[in-house]
Amino acid sequence: MTTSSLQGRVVLITGAARGIGLATAEAFAAAGATVTIGDIDGDLSKSSAAALAARSSAKVIGLRVDVTDRESFAAFFAEAEALVGAADILINNAGIMPTGYFVDESPELTDRQIDINVRGVTNGSHLAATRFVNRGKGHIVNIASVAAITAEPGLATYTGTKHFVLGFTDALRRELHPHGVGVTVVLPGFINTELSEGTVVPRWAHALACREPEDVAAGIVAAVRADSSRATIPASLGILIKTMSLLPARARHAVQHALHFDTTMTGADPEQRAAYHRRISGTDH
Ligand SMILES: NC(=O)c1ccc[n+]([C@@H]2O[C@H](COP(=O)([O-])OP(=O)(O)OC[C@H]3O[C@@H](n4cnc5c(N)ncnc54)[C@H](O)[C@@H]3O)[C@@H](O)[C@H]2O)c1
Repeated sequence: MTTSSLQGRVVLITGAARGIGLATAEAFAAAGATVTIGDIDGDLSKSSAAALAARSSAKVIGLRVDVTDRESFAAFFAEAEALVGAADILINNAGIMPTGYFVDESPELTDRQIDINVRGVTNGSHLAATRFVNRGKGHIVNIASVAAITAEPGLATYTGTKHFVLGFTDALRRELHPHGVGVTVVLPGFINTELSEGTVVPRWAHALACREPEDVAAGIVAAVRADSSRATIPASLGILIKTMSLLPARARHAVQHALHFDTTMTGADPEQRAAYHRRISGTDH
């Protein structure tokens, strides 16, 4: 976007019934934008939107969308635009992060991560890009993860999907920027939502690596205003990862091991992960 004002801008956010997406909806609403929350949990989408509308002066609507399904995503766009006007910003935020060893992961869960984290992002980006290029303006934000620049055990498929989102989004920015369309990739660290529940960050790393959804939301708003290509949140974790990447892999892994920073996912408490894993397996909605 060429302007830093978000007043009256129409923002669509996927996976925004809870977590980072909902905090981002709140931040854009506070900046004067009109917000459409989309989520596969249609009831929660509507109730989250109604609650946000009640505590802000912004217009907020909640719709059901399954980002893996092109028709559902197209219908979401069309319905939102009919209700609140042409979209200015799309935030592809919906994502899932099951933890555990790949050898134990079901093929269905592997496919589901690829469908949501990869196809969801390409589906949304294509729908937005065609509109935004025609109008010569707009902004696409794709939520990746620091997993896009690392490779931790216990997170193989998710890591692959987020590496895709980073590479895809960087290339997309170079394609769309000449048409006046902004594209940003966001790399959150360890954020306090249901998705990361039960993962284990060593105490020494908390201040460096852990943040609240509101911190990511503020980072996304700032990145859109500034038309940044990339935002790592917290920035301190990005610096730590960059510094560590200067070491040869064997030395890096030895340092991580000594600092108990290589078991954040493999050491996750299965009981604390159980409710999340049930939800993302599709049995809870
Ligand atoms: N929480 C973290 O530590 C963290 C770190 C890095 C990146 N991220 C990324 O941030 C994004 C948001 O994560 P979160 O922590 O808020 O998770 P969350 O589980 O709190 O929220 C994700 C939302 O996405 C929705 N969703 C799932 N499948 C969907 C589908 N097919 N269509 C539409 N909506 C769907 C869920 O119903 C849920 O409301 C994800 O892409 C995640 O990978 C999170």
